[in-house]
Amino acid sequence: MGIFFDAKRKIFHLKAKDTSYVMEVVRDGYLVHLYWGRKVQEYHHPNYLQQMDRGFSGNPYQHKEDRTFSLDTLPQEYPQYGNSDFRKPAYQIQLENGSTVTDLRYDSHTIHKGKMPLDGLPVTYVEKEEEAETLEITMIDKLIGLKVILSYTVFNHFNVITRSVKIVNDGNTSLKLLNVQSLCVDFREADFDFLHLHGAHVRERHIERQPLRHGIQSIESARGSSSHQHNPFIALLRKDATEHAGEVYGFNFVYSGNFLAQAEVDQFRNTRVTMGINPFDFSWKLDPGAVFQAPEAVMVYSSAGLGDMSRTFHDLYRTRLVRGEFRDKERPILVNNWEATYFNFTADKILEIADAGKELGIELFVLDDGWFGKRDNDKSSLGDWFVDLRKLPDGLDNLALQVKEKGMQFGVWFEPEMVSVDSDLFREHPDWCLHVPGRESSESRNQLVLDLSREDVRKEIIKRVSDILTNIPISYVKWDMNRNMTEIGSAQLPADRQRETAHRYMLGLYKILEKITGDFPHVLFESCSGGGGRFDAGMLYYMPQTWTSDNTDAVSRLKIQYGTSLVYPVSSIGAHVSAVPNHQVQRIASIEMRGHVAMSGNFGYELDLTKLTADEKTAVKNQVSSYKEIRKLIQFGDFYRLKSPFEGNETAWLFTNKDKTEMIVYYFRVLAEPAAPASVLKLTGIDVQKIYQVNGTDIIYGGDELTYAGMSIPIELQGDFQSYCWHLKAIKE
Ligand code: DGJ
Repeated sequence: MGIFFDAKRKIFHLKAKDTSYVMEVVRDGYLVHLYWGRKVQEYHHPNYLQQMDRGFSGNPYQHKEDRTFSLDTLPQEYPQYGNSDFRKPAYQIQLENGSTVTDLRYDSHTIHKGKMPLDGLPVTYVEKEEEAETLEITMIDKLIGLKVILSYTVFNHFNVITRSVKIVNDGNTSLKLLNVQSLCVDFREADFDFLHLHGAHVRERHIERQPLRHGIQSIESARGSSSHQHNPFIALLRKDATEHAGEVYGFNFVYSGNFLAQAEVDQFRNTRVTMGINPFDFSWKLDPGAVFQAPEAVMVYSSAGLGDMSRTFHDLYRTRLVRGEFRDKERPILVNNWEATYFNFTADKILEIADAGKELGIELFVLDDGWFGKRDNDKSSLGDWFVDLRKLPDGLDNLALQVKEKGMQFGVWFEPEMVSVDSDLFREHPDWCLHVPGRESSESRNQLVLDLSREDVRKEIIKRVSDILTNIPISYVKWDMNRNMTEIGSAQLPADRQRETAHRYMLGLYKILEKITGDFPHVLFESCSGGGGRFDAGMLYYMPQTWTSDNTDAVSRLKIQYGTSLVYPVSSIGAHVSAVPNHQVQRIASIEMRGHVAMSGNFGYELDLTKLTADEKTAVKNQVSSYKEIRKLIQFGDFYRLKSPFEGNETAWLFTNKDKTEMIVYYFRVLAEPAAPASVLKLTGIDVQKIYQVNGTDIIYGGDELTYAGMSIPIELQGDFQSYCWHLKAIKE
């Protein structure tokens, strides 16, 4: 494990748990990629680079005599455009003379134990230096004094390599960064499938897998957030890779704003993968002496399929991205009043729901949108974070105390990044929102986006939220964000920095989150953006859980939660039981299925508990008490996907502890099928040597039977929207 440099051959060999990543400095300083994959003890370069004289692939000036040497055919670590590589570059910089040609060469490197934080950005971390090693390679363009520092960290216990890039202007004229990708990997092959997570509001993170083809295939966001539409994640899979086997390369961006992730298959069937801030509508002026730090990107290699890749992401993010006291704490079961009342509630109604929740064993009451300003609908009051005494005449503090007196925690909703046009804040500070002078601003949900690049705006937000968290006994905050950016511009930035606004917004947001979550370490924060519009590793650094989707329909949630689990740990996936007919799709799913789907994440309810029938009450009580028993396993166990909702009518998944002595298996069947085949579920992730007992029964199965022969799905499951749960415990025999 660790990072090794062979000074004679100028080869870097990075060794993570079972992974090798190899680079070489060739000729006069070109940094070339040689290998990334299953770990090799030594790298002797059996797959040496085959240089050929290729037509129309030119030769850099020092090597013009050697027609076999072209950047166009070299697999590079941080390629540039303009001096014989015609593929998409990893970065682009414009000089004061207008040129965008740069020429980076290896200068030096350092290797050190551990991993440093990135200033102002979310990042994976280590607790002990021995957990990781970091390599920093300095590349220099001597002509203009440009310095680029490529940073690679290998984790000893994970098949993970993290990357980031720092650009330093050591010259004496300004530079304009037009594109700074955080990673580039040049694979010397293209026989892969490209997998990504696409979606929409209420249909987030659906899996799409297609063969790579010549040219560029990319996903991106230009919405000012990581977005519902494309998650900042892609994977390259071998053609034969499945959930349980085969090689997978996963890439995830630790950032919550505009991004670009792409794979370019070139004329010789090489594949260049890049991931970073979206260069579209971005530039960054770098004055002499200034530094630009690009966000981190995480690369996961697995030789054992998508499931194994996901578990690596889960373990890394759960333990070395998420911070604070809730990282390792079991999360409370909550009831949220949004779908119960929307904006239309009184203190009495809230207390009635809380009473009902308490009786059912629920631990946390969350007061959603509508408690401040004069917010009877979504047309006003964002920014006016003062309690609405019409609705809560005794104040928010009294309500919180009353809920606490019942023995429940109290949580509250905020949308601090936004301002309503109809608000005192906007009337006082019309220039505090993102806007372009002289142009009308587009509205979305009747609101505008506050300009978080400004310090005065950040101060105001921190003050408003902190006042409430200081004075009221609040244990949980839902931090929402309900629109994307338009007319992106800041009143405080000069003309030549306007295209920095969207990234400066993210840096401003991260500053706010660092301050507030740091000042209130005992508050559990859940991030949200109209559900899952900003479900990314950047937000998880500050807030350990995310509201996964505004769609609470159990059937829709099968796909949403399954897709989300490709990258993000179960402990981050907020999942609630809601009323039927469901408010988003009008479906009437069974209470059992709604419960089992929601219990597969961070569990809660989102309905008027006072309206439950007696049977529903019994079901909810059972769900709550059994979740309390199993939540450690669900939230912190290993997650195995068994049947995909994207492939048919059935879904199944399994949670197990690390030593495989206890597991929960959930099976879902959406629609009844006439003359359906008898269904059998084969388990993975369990110990074939162990004997398991179905909890609460005397039924016993061998781990080998469950794995190889499988379990029959009970025939009692009749009709639509069926689900079943097995709780298995290993017994000594
Ligand atoms: C969008 C969120 O996703 C919902 O859960 C709810 O909090 C509303 N916003 C409130 O406006």
